[in-house]
Amino acid sequence: MQIAIMIIIAYLIGSIPSGVWIGKIFFHVDIHQEGSGNSGTTNTFRVFGKKAGIAVLLIDILKGTLAASQPYFIGSDINPLLIGVFASLGHTFSIFDHFKGGKAVATSAGILLAYNPLLFLMASSIFVITLCLSSMASVASVLGITITAIVAIIMQDWIFAAIASFLAIVVILRHRGNFKRIFSGTESMVPFGLGNYL
Ligand code: G3P
Repeated sequence: MQIAIMIIIAYLIGSIPSGVWIGKIFFHVDIHQEGSGNSGTTNTFRVFGKKAGIAVLLIDILKGTLAASQPYFIGSDINPLLIGVFASLGHTFSIFDHFKGGKAVATSAGILLAYNPLLFLMASSIFVITLCLSSMASVASVLGITITAIVAIIMQDWIFAAIASFLAIVVILRHRGNFKRIFSGTESMVPFGLGNYL
């Protein structure tokens, strides 16, 4: 029963559509109609600028961290990843946004922060370095989560490996449109990084 309640709370926290609500409340714009149409951090930066982008990034990370920290809060020894994964699903298939949502990147990072801050730093560094090299948030996201899953397998931490691999598949599937754009040379780039000069 306790586990079921934590899962429901994780899904509801994850479902909070920060990019959609910030767009509607502060800009009176539906983010789904702008840029890539995604409601995550990258498109919020692209459409609404730095302040809104940072706010969505922090909120989306926090959603994962809070949801996954529930076992710590109540002194349960259930693995936080097993609860946190439902926040990523909520973020991606939000009950408050017609089961649409983001691409599971920032919220999954938040789950990792709750589980192991050092691994969060590693994944974030991979993201930032790849972003600076490719200038594409999509490439950085996919590489960050995929390497995290590989690290989990190398660590032989099997629950971590299973959840990270599952989330890597979700992230990769959610980036299908980005892959098409990358291969047709039309993927949007951030305005910095080496990718702009290649
Ligand atoms: O985290 C989402 C990012 O990887 C890609 O976002 O808006 O460029 O499709 P977007």
